[in-house]
Amino acid sequence: MTPNPAHAPNLADLIHDEANRFTAEHPRALALSRQAAAVWRGGTPMHWMGDWASPCPVFAAQGVGAQITDIDGKLYDDFCLADTPAMFGHGQEAVARAIADQALRGTGFMLPTASAVIVGRLLAERFGLPLWQAATTASDANRAAIRWARAVTQRPVLLVFDGCYHGMVDDAFVVLKDGQPVMKPGLLGQVHDLTATTRVIPFNDPEALAAALAPGDVAAVLAEPVMTNCGMILPLPEFLETLRDLTRQAGTLLILDETHTISTGPGGYARAHGLAPDMLVIGKAIAGGVPAAVWGVTAALSERMDAAAARVGPGQSGIGTTLSGNALALAAMRAMLAEVMTEAAYAKMLAGAARLVEGLRAVIAARGLPWSVVHVGARVELVFAASPPKNAAVMREALDAELLHALHLWLINRGVLIAPFHNMMLVSPMTEDAAVDRLVAAVDGFGGALERLAA
Ligand SMILES: Cc1ncc(COP(=O)(O)O)c(C=O)c1O
Repeated sequence: MTPNPAHAPNLADLIHDEANRFTAEHPRALALSRQAAAVWRGGTPMHWMGDWASPCPVFAAQGVGAQITDIDGKLYDDFCLADTPAMFGHGQEAVARAIADQALRGTGFMLPTASAVIVGRLLAERFGLPLWQAATTASDANRAAIRWARAVTQRPVLLVFDGCYHGMVDDAFVVLKDGQPVMKPGLLGQVHDLTATTRVIPFNDPEALAAALAPGDVAAVLAEPVMTNCGMILPLPEFLETLRDLTRQAGTLLILDETHTISTGPGGYARAHGLAPDMLVIGKAIAGGVPAAVWGVTAALSERMDAAAARVGPGQSGIGTTLSGNALALAAMRAMLAEVMTEAAYAKMLAGAARLVEGLRAVIAARGLPWSVVHVGARVELVFAASPPKNAAVMREALDAELLHALHLWLINRGVLIAPFHNMMLVSPMTEDAAVDRLVAAVDGFGGALERLAA
C-alpha cells in the first residue's frame, strides 16, 4: 500500500526547517511585518493577507506579468494572482493606461460615462445575458442578486451547496455538519439563524436538490458551476443540466457565480456549457483588480424585477453602494473586456494550465502519491485524495491542514506562490511554460521530501 504522506511522522520537522529558511531569507519582510503589527490588527491591512504558510507574509514590491518581486529582492512565479483579480497578469498595459487616463479626468461622478454603454454591450455579447448592473465586489453583486431573487419570487429561502463560498454574503454562511445544516464554524457576530432561510445540500446530489426545492419556497439557488472554494469539486455529468431543469420546474431562479469559473473561457462556464442561468455574477478579474463586479439578468427576469419594484413601491431598495459602477471601474472593465480577456489570451492560459495538469499528474504517477489534479480551464487544483471528491464532506477529509501548510511553505521557499487557501493554482496568459515547469519541479521536490520522511 502506498504510504499516506499526510501521516508521515516528521512533517512538523520539515515545516520547522522550511520556516527557518524563510526567516533567514526574508529579513526585510520580517522587520516590516513587526512594524505593521503595531498598526494593523493581526499585522496586515486585510486579515487574509496573513493567511500564508510563511512565518510572515512576503511583502510585494512589484508584479510584472505572472511574476512578483518581494522587498527582499526575491522573485516568485505567481500562481495565486491575487486570488483571481490578476488572473490575466500583473501590470496589464491596456488597463493601466485606461485607469490613468480616467483618473486624470475624474474617477467617478454618480453619472454614467460613455464607457458604460460599451461595457454593457461587451458583457451582453460575451455572456449572453442582455441586461447588467454593476457592483463593487462579487460579494455585493451576490447580495444584490439574492435580494432581487427574493423580491421577484416573493419566496424566502436561498439554496446553496455545502462547501460554497460566495464572498461576504451572510445568507451563504451555512454548511452541513453530520448531514445537518449549521452556521459555518468561526462565523462572527451573526445574530440571525441563517439556517432558517438558507437551505444547504451536497453538490452533485440530484435527489437532495429535488427534495430541497419541493416545498416551493426557494427563491434562488446560488451556485458556482464548479465549486472552487472547498478544494475544487467538478460537477458530475448532467448535474448542472438537472439543476437548471429542476430550478425551472420549481419556479426557482438560478444564480451562477462565475467569479472563479471565468477561468473556463471567454464567456465563462455557463456559456461554454450551454447553461442558461437567470442571473450571472462576475467579480474580481473583471476590472483587472480595480474593485468592480457585474451581474447580468435575462430579459424575462428584468421584467419581473420591474414588476417587483412596482409592487413594493417607492422608497429605498437597500441595494447598491456609492462606488458601484464608477467611471474608473468602467474604464478598467472596458479595457479588460476589449483588450485583455481575448480569445488569444484564453488560448494561452488554457494551454499553460494543460501543461500544469499534465506535469502534476506525471509527478503523482511517478512518485505513487495518493493525490489527483482537477481543473476548470485555467484554474488548477491539486487534491490530496487519489480520486477527486464529489462533494464537500469528502473533500474536507482530504484537506489535511498540516500537509497543506508544508507544501505551501515549501513552494514559497522555492519561488512559487499559490493561493494560500487549499491548492489553487491559476495560469495567466503571461505565465511562461518555464514557470509552469518550475512549479511542477517544486511539487516533485516536495514529493521527494515526503518520501524521505516516510522512509
Ligand atoms: C465564487 C466567489 N464568489 C464571490 C467571491 C467574493 O469576492 P469578493 O471577495 O471580491 O467580494 C469569491 C471570493 O473568493 C468567490 O470565490
